[in-house]
Amino acid sequence: PSGRERLRLAKLLSFWAVLLLGIAMPMQAGAQTPLPRFESGGEHPALLVDGEPFLILGAQVNNSSNYPAMLDEVWPTLERMGANTVLMPVAWEQVEPVEGQFDFSFVDVLLDQVRSRDMRVVLLWYGTWKNTGPSYVPAWVKRDTQRFARMRKADGSAHLVLSPHGEATMQADARAFSMLMRHLKQVDPQHTVVMVQVENESGSWGLDRDRSPEANALFAGPIPQELAEGLGIERRSWSDAFGPRAAQFFNSWYVARYVDTVAAAGQAQKDLPMFVNAALGNAFTDEGGDVGPSGGPNWNALPIWRIAAPNIPAYGPDIYNRDPKAVEAYLDRYAAHGPLMVPEIGNAAEYARFIWPAMGRGAVLFAPFGIDGTRYSNYPLGAKELDEDTLEAFAAPYRLFGQMPREWARIAREHPLWGTAKGEDGADQTHIMGQWKLTAQYARWAFAEDDWTWIERDAHPLADVPTGGLVVAQLSDDVFLVGGRNVKLRIALAQPGAGQQGEVIEAQEGRFVDGEWVMRRRWNGDQIDWGFNFGAEPVWLRIEMDVLE
Ligand code: DGJ
Repeated sequence: PSGRERLRLAKLLSFWAVLLLGIAMPMQAGAQTPLPRFESGGEHPALLVDGEPFLILGAQVNNSSNYPAMLDEVWPTLERMGANTVLMPVAWEQVEPVEGQFDFSFVDVLLDQVRSRDMRVVLLWYGTWKNTGPSYVPAWVKRDTQRFARMRKADGSAHLVLSPHGEATMQADARAFSMLMRHLKQVDPQHTVVMVQVENESGSWGLDRDRSPEANALFAGPIPQELAEGLGIERRSWSDAFGPRAAQFFNSWYVARYVDTVAAAGQAQKDLPMFVNAALGNAFTDEGGDVGPSGGPNWNALPIWRIAAPNIPAYGPDIYNRDPKAVEAYLDRYAAHGPLMVPEIGNAAEYARFIWPAMGRGAVLFAPFGIDGTRYSNYPLGAKELDEDTLEAFAAPYRLFGQMPREWARIAREHPLWGTAKGEDGADQTHIMGQWKLTAQYARWAFAEDDWTWIERDAHPLADVPTGGLVVAQLSDDVFLVGGRNVKLRIALAQPGAGQQGEVIEAQEGRFVDGEWVMRRRWNGDQIDWGFNFGAEPVWLRIEMDVLE
């Protein structure tokens, strides 16, 4: 070949080489980016993203913000709050408006905008159940009550909620969800979407179980063998096995089975971590039938869900209860069943302090609900208005964890934790970690003791304000990492021997960077003589104690 032909050939080859490289590289990068997943076995279960522990400082948008036209109103509020992940609905009606015709253009727009902001996404699949109702299913599902069965009341009339015994509904939902996950597999090799919530507050309000003839026949039979074995009980009738909770647990079994089928269909396409969220009943008791929607993953039904839905590894409580004792009880109950996550909590300022007890139980996700600029308010559940003070209540702790979300997630995976928030009465709270007793105090002046009578002082301005809390990680026997806001921490020997007292060796403000502690300054003198005083701007403090004798 002539020199010119050779040149042409070379150009052609390099064109193809560049093109092929261009195609191959992202695929390769995708193949190298490990799928997000949960990891157990540490002090607390962790969420791994890109192979490393990750903390979701989330924000859940309002219910109808899942359209491209709304996104401009979403980002400024999320950015003000410092969220690193948006919890965003994708509705069945939106992606399959006509049966068999799928439209994922919203997902594409969302991923594009999220990536340019260096954020992540948790998708919320609004399918068969949305606050139990079928509001987000496509019109062709709503209209066809023959094919897509509703629950039936005892008199045979229809209950609004779709029946968990509806095989056709389950297949249709599972297909739509699997198409969504297939799409994600194609367009999201970098796993911008880190996790998916399957359905939204499944179960049924107002009817404890389907009373259709088919459901009645199932209810009259024995409980499934698998359930009997899983619970270690004898295979008996639902009523004999569960007494007053029989109808609820019956519904739970079938709702969980259904949701599990939907989840598995999606995981077969792309195996992302999945979870379900729960409308909550009473935090302390399930007597009196106060269980949230029957069939949903309320805390009392989690043992049933665990067995019925092996593909659902995590459950999140939707917290709209302002009583701190109830909040702590919910957190305990859900932390006992896998990675703790709070996919919804009211967006009123007073809820912000519950991030401390959540993180103190190893939460991998925390997300106030209704965070965007659309000016919708779900008061009295959440805030009347997302004003600057309200946003700041969440933004302040987010700034703290946002300094080192992966470092914190790693620490939470590996170390004992304690987290607490100001209670209803503002009383001191104590916790023992090893030989140390930690005490959290609220609305105290930094330079004063309660029993000082020699100097007058005003009441503390936060005395009646529901703010304040802290989280502690015990890095080693006598070393604590503490983050807090509007709280005073004291550390003393839990059981001092004769002549013994605890002494602060040093207290450093700083943060972890790539596993190394980087000091900004030491706290000493006035800053620690009367306890460690955390103000409105949260900081990390690394405190080293020793025993003086
Ligand atoms: C809980 C639901 O999961 C949310 O989608 C929303 O409807 C809130 N309740 C109320 O704002």
